[in-house]
Order: sequence, then C-alpha cells, then structure tokens
Amino acid sequence: MTSMRKIHYFDGFSNESDDTIFHLEQDFGAHHYERIHLVVRHAKGCWLTDDKGNKYLDCLAAYSAANPGHHHPTITNAVMDALIGNYASVLSNVVFTDPLGIFLSEAAKFTPQMAPRFGNHGNKVLPKNGGVESVETAIKAMRYYGFKQKGIPDGKQEIIVFNNNFHGRTISVVSFSSKKKNYEGFGPLTPGFVSVEFGNIEAVKNAITPNTCGILVEPFQGEGGMLIPPKGFLAGLRTLCDDNDLLLMADEIQVGMGRTGKKFCFEHENIVPDGVILGKALSGGLIPLSVFITNAKLMDMVFSKGSDGSTFGGYPLACVAGTASLKVFEEEKLAEQAAKKGEILKKRIQEIGERSPHVKEVRGKGLFIGIEVKNGNAMDFCHKLLKLGLVVNDSHGHTIRISPPLVINEKEMDFMVEQLEKALVG
Ligand SMILES: Cc1ncc(COP(=O)(O)O)c(C=O)c1O
Repeated sequence: MTSMRKIHYFDGFSNESDDTIFHLEQDFGAHHYERIHLVVRHAKGCWLTDDKGNKYLDCLAAYSAANPGHHHPTITNAVMDALIGNYASVLSNVVFTDPLGIFLSEAAKFTPQMAPRFGNHGNKVLPKNGGVESVETAIKAMRYYGFKQKGIPDGKQEIIVFNNNFHGRTISVVSFSSKKKNYEGFGPLTPGFVSVEFGNIEAVKNAITPNTCGILVEPFQGEGGMLIPPKGFLAGLRTLCDDNDLLLMADEIQVGMGRTGKKFCFEHENIVPDGVILGKALSGGLIPLSVFITNAKLMDMVFSKGSDGSTFGGYPLACVAGTASLKVFEEEKLAEQAAKKGEILKKRIQEIGERSPHVKEVRGKGLFIGIEVKNGNAMDFCHKLLKLGLVVNDSHGHTIRISPPLVINEKEMDFMVEQLEKALVG
C-alpha cells in the first residue's frame, strides 16, 4: 500500500467519508453481501484506490468481469462516444439498432461452431443483462429441445447439473444449488434438476433417464472451490450427450473470455458444447451484458417471436461495450496473456505453498488460481492481504481465489507474490 497525495479524481462520486458510505449501506441496503472494509473511489487497470490515495492490487477483477482491466480505454471511449452521440439509451425492441446487429454478428463469429452435430449453420446469439439471465435462457433451450425434439412430456424434462455448482441467484437456478443458504426459505423451488458429483462421469451416466434433455456444466468450478474436473471429464460429457441426444451447455461466465488461458475453458479438452453462456468480461466490466450462443438451427428451433425477451437485453450501450470488448480481447491476445502469465504466477504461488504452514494446495489454469488453506477459512487470509494491499476473496470458504485482470504486468505480479509470501509464510 502506498500513500499518495489526495487528488480530486481519486475522490470518487461524492465527497462522503468512508464511514458515511459504510453507514448508508448498512441503513439503506439489503445485507446480502459480506463486504471487505474498503470504499473504492477510483479503478484503473489492475488498481483500486481509496480516498486517501492508497492503492490496492485487484486480484479478484469482479470475479473475472474486469478481465481487460478497469476502464480499458478502448471500451470506455466506445461507451463515451455512444453516450455523447445519443446512441446509447435503451430503445424499444420493436426497432432495429446497428449496435445490436454488429454485436450479435461479432459474438456469433467469436465462438466456434456450437453443436456441430446439427450442421454447419453458424451460431446465433440471444443477449441478456446479468449472467444468470442467460443461464435461464440455456435452461429454456434444453427443456424446449427435450419437449419438441425428443418428445419428453412438457414439465417432465430433466437437466443434469453438478454438486457445488454456481450459476446465479434466480429461483430456478438456486433450486439446484448445493448450498442451503442459497435456497432455504425461498421455496417452492423449481423441479427438473438432478445434481451429481462434479468430475464423476459414472454418476452422470447413471443419472440419465428418458426425460433427460441436457447437461449444464461449469468447465472449471469457480465458486465451488476453484475445482478443475479430472482430465477427460468434459470429453466424457460430450460423448454422453452425443450418445443420448442431450444438449451440453457450458457456463463460461467466469472462466470464459480468456481467463483460464484459452478463449473458452472447454477448449482445454478440445470439445465443443451445444451452447455457451458468457457474461461478466463480455462487456469489459463496464455494462451488464450476457449472452446465450448456440447453433443457428437450434436457436431457431427453440425461440420464436414472443417466446423470450428483455427490455435492456442487447440495448445499444451494452452492445457498443460488448463489441469493443471483443475487439480488445482479440487485439491484445488476452487468452495468450493469461496462459503465459498464469503459468509463471502459479509456479511462484506453488513455491510459496511449499514453504507455507497454511497452504493445503495450489491449483488453477491461466490466471484463475486457487490457494486452498488448511484451516478452511480463506477469509482470514483475505483480510490480512487487504491490509497488505491486495483485494482477494474466498471461494467456497476454504480457498483464496486469485483472478486478477488479464493485463496484469510483471511488476504487479511481483507485488502480488511478495504480499502472498508475507501473509502465507510470514
Ligand atoms: C459460473 C457463473 N455462472 C453464473 C453466474 C451469475 O452471473 P450474474 O451474477 O452476472 O448473474 C456467475 C457469477 O458469479 C458465475 O460465476
């Protein structure tokens, strides 16, 4: 942490003190997040700054949303141009807009041919806002496919999901969470989901019934404890889906867009799913934007006029940010950056792990690295790390999650490693 002269633009949106901000949230906000004790007044690249000018290295990047770094100039300028040019506000979905058309075509081409067994028709994209909305879209797609194509009676469709999954917070999605806190008291819950052990292909095989229409998987569980499935698991799911005419949907909201060193995490096993869900970094962390992408033939089979929609889904400002963010992704080779830096960083953190009395295991791919601690309370270390100038949080209680912006440089990685050393070795 370095102390800097107070500069006006580090003061943030208001001149309210940190104490006032804490109390305003306490008094007027729902208490649904456990926050760390920091009011951020400025965010740029990999750094967050408080009102005293103290800088913190962002090792969380809004759970992968800030992959290109905070306020990336290309994305910020595109958003500002749209605002200044009066081409940003939400327009009724009865009219066409060029930001939407352009973004859809870019996102469709960004993604390999989904569901190639349905033919080489290209991809189609359905845009929403927060990530969970696109998870819901994928669930609808699987269910409708089961009903229309497989003849499963409507209401009887089943989807296989995985223990310790995290796909968001809507009623349907928390209905298949393994974490009681996520669903208790929010019933009646949505039926039609069968949860099996993550990484256990036999368990998946045994869960398939004539009513199964699809499988929803995170190729690498982020919230579930930074868990990488055993090698061959994703390929095994692909085979099961092909053999049983099921749709395989990959939730890449947290691990896509280069995070694990490939554009998509499913590429680590050379598979192609039938649909992919992207969010978070899709718009560079500036505007909520998520998508469900699938083979054009499937999209046209499943969704027809009036069967889905969203007021803000695909509105001009989000699409402008999305198109700019895809451009940054390709131009700055963010996936390659994550692969290269991730390899170095993981090795250095593993070395710390070997010297530390607190570390149980270090695991990860690209710039998505988990440090599992022996006492099972990763937040103990996250609070320590905050005092040392790193913003991190836990995954599943027991693991420190390291997921900095993919543009992190060597000096910043050195700083991170030095602080981890202090907190974990002493
Ligand atoms: C894998 C995964 N799916 C879905 C979501 C939900 O996204 P959102 O919070 O934007 O609704 C998240 C959020 O952390 C996620 O990590």
